Amino acid sequence: MVLLAPTDVEIVFCEELERIPPFNPDLDVEPAAEAVANFRMLVKSSDAVVFSTPEYAHGVPGSLKNLLDWVVGSGELSDKPVALIHASAQGEHAKTSLRETLRTMNARVLEEVEHTVSLRGKKLTADQLAADAEQACVIRGFVKELADRLSVHQAPQPVLGSAAGIGGLENGWDSPLTDAALGELIK
Ligand SMILES: Cc1cc2nc3c(=O)[nH]c(=O)nc-3n(C[C@H](O)[C@H](O)[C@H](O)COP(=O)(O)O)c2cc1C
Repeated sequence: MVLLAPTDVEIVFCEELERIPPFNPDLDVEPAAEAVANFRMLVKSSDAVVFSTPEYAHGVPGSLKNLLDWVVGSGELSDKPVALIHASAQGEHAKTSLRETLRTMNARVLEEVEHTVSLRGKKLTADQLAADAEQACVIRGFVKELADRLSVHQAPQPVLGSAAGIGGLENGWDSPLTDAALGELIK
């Protein structure tokens, strides 16, 4: 996605997933753990958040749910546009569960821009995926539709934007650029 996004859209890969401690409301105090604070800032300053997740035992990976639990109380996902992109046509339980969790957190789940890249278990690098004309077209279309929706439906707001993957999407027309490192969203 980073390789294929148009130049006026910045995709920032959230690197915090594996560094986030297990959520415990008794430990949800200020100052937050560094990884938690970084994740919250990343979400808060992004125009939208993109999720891509495998399904484990008919659910989302525990690490992804744990990550989300850290922003239930702090509210960074509230009213935030979010979109899902899938690496498989399967895993409907995880997709449904993730949407439900996000809606419960008052995120704006943009189901109409949801796309599926059919990797069918293929282990492709980001470069190989970007070089696959058919799949690259799907990814470009996803980013374009999401960016178009943001520019039409969202007033300009201040900046910024993990595999289960979560990426922040920053629309360059509306916002200054982030300094955060770019990474690949789809592995
Ligand atoms: C522990 C475990 C449980 C899984 N459970 C499911 C499942 O319930 N439903 C499903 O469609 N795929 C399941 N999968 C497959 C994964 O969702 C995923 O497709 C697979 O690990 C390939 O991921 P990769 O493309 O990131 O390598 C499971 C995989 C693992 C390792």
